[in-house]
Amino acid sequence: MQNEKFILVTGGAGYIGSHTVVELYSNGYTPIILDDFRNSSKLVIEGIEKIIGEKIQFHEIDICDYVQLEQIFRNYKINGVIHFAAYKAVGESVLDPLKYYKNNIIGLLNVLELSAKYDVRPFVFSSSCTVYGEPKGIKEVKESTPLSKPSSPYGNTKLIGEQILNDFFVSQPTAKILNLRYFNPIGAHPSSLIGELPNGKPNNLLPYITQTAIGKLKELVVHGNDYPTKDGSCVRDYIHVCDLAKAHVKALNYLENETQGLIDAVNVGTGQGKTVLEVIKTFESITGEKINWRFGPRRAGDVDEIYANSAKSKELLNWEAVHSFEDAILHAWLWENKLRKNDE
Ligand code: NAD
Ligand code: UD1
Repeated sequence: MQNEKFILVTGGAGYIGSHTVVELYSNGYTPIILDDFRNSSKLVIEGIEKIIGEKIQFHEIDICDYVQLEQIFRNYKINGVIHFAAYKAVGESVLDPLKYYKNNIIGLLNVLELSAKYDVRPFVFSSSCTVYGEPKGIKEVKESTPLSKPSSPYGNTKLIGEQILNDFFVSQPTAKILNLRYFNPIGAHPSSLIGELPNGKPNNLLPYITQTAIGKLKELVVHGNDYPTKDGSCVRDYIHVCDLAKAHVKALNYLENETQGLIDAVNVGTGQGKTVLEVIKTFESITGEKINWRFGPRRAGDVDEIYANSAKSKELLNWEAVHSFEDAILHAWLWENKLRKNDE
């Protein structure tokens, strides 16, 4: 096909990457997935291909391997980069911080350096609301809310990543960079052909809930009941992964249409905070399943409450979340059921 718009998607076989690849396709882009499947599976590629009804281009490489990565930049006329590939397990990053700094920082440096060398402009970076640390006072954070040290080495790789991009921009003012600060992605594609594939025991709340409901896990422990929130459990902004995926397409569109170089950061959340107990109650009422849960002690490093101010994403990207919270929970449940069928 002529005039194909090739978008390099590092970590494109992962949870958020795979949903984004689907959205890129349906918006006329040709995503090129770079992933060595260290935290995903080739079955994800099959799932994507079933959804889009076409073959997808992917390269099984470690993005920390500069020589292999450069080969990709040589072989395609790339029009933009979305950089997802990174490790993301908070607890593991505390136990093995160097693993996190090595992969998340070297990966970013390689992709960034080659983007500059091959004159690839739009660059979208997977950042996280963890860069706000524990918000002081108002819990609805804006992009202008001061950043503070995240509570884990993983989180710190995101803050350092943003700082690297800021410094890089000073030296390359024609670059076009958007840091997307994700809140808590949940759910799966409505087709149940792709979704989250937690490795081992999940850390995140939603897979923990669905695995408890389906009987893979015995019980859910709610971490803390004495936070200064409406029911004592923590508040987060849960966003449907398909909405998050769409935000990446909007981010690319925005960067493409800008005539000048720029660097900016945008929250990607719904603007709605939900407590852990509200998540459990909603899950139970939608699915009719009972969750075996109990309160446990606070989890180290948890912030009590954080949710997005989403005005900037609307204004700048013309993007806002459209899926309901209930939809996101339902799709997570359908996906868990699909995984169980695959296991049988
Ligand atoms: P994921 O683990 O599902 O996807 C990451 C993908 O990158 C995986 O497929 C993995 O195999 C690949 N990968 C990692 N290192 C690689 C390397 N060196 N070379 C090639 N491939 C490599 O994670 P996700 O949930 O899809 O997260 C994507 C990005 O979003 C990450 O940067 C993560 O830190 C960030 N993020 C995620 C969340 C979340 O809650 N999931 C929240 C905020 C930010
Ligand atoms: C965590 C990370 C964040 C990262 C994000 C995505 C921390 C401090 N933050 O966000 O940096 O970007 O994951 O990977 O870990 N909960 C329970 N019981 C459970 C699991 C979770 O009560 O078994 C609670 C947590 O205490 C929290 C909420 O559910 O209040 C959401 O937890 P989780 O899904 O792990 O996400 P975050 O902690 O918000």
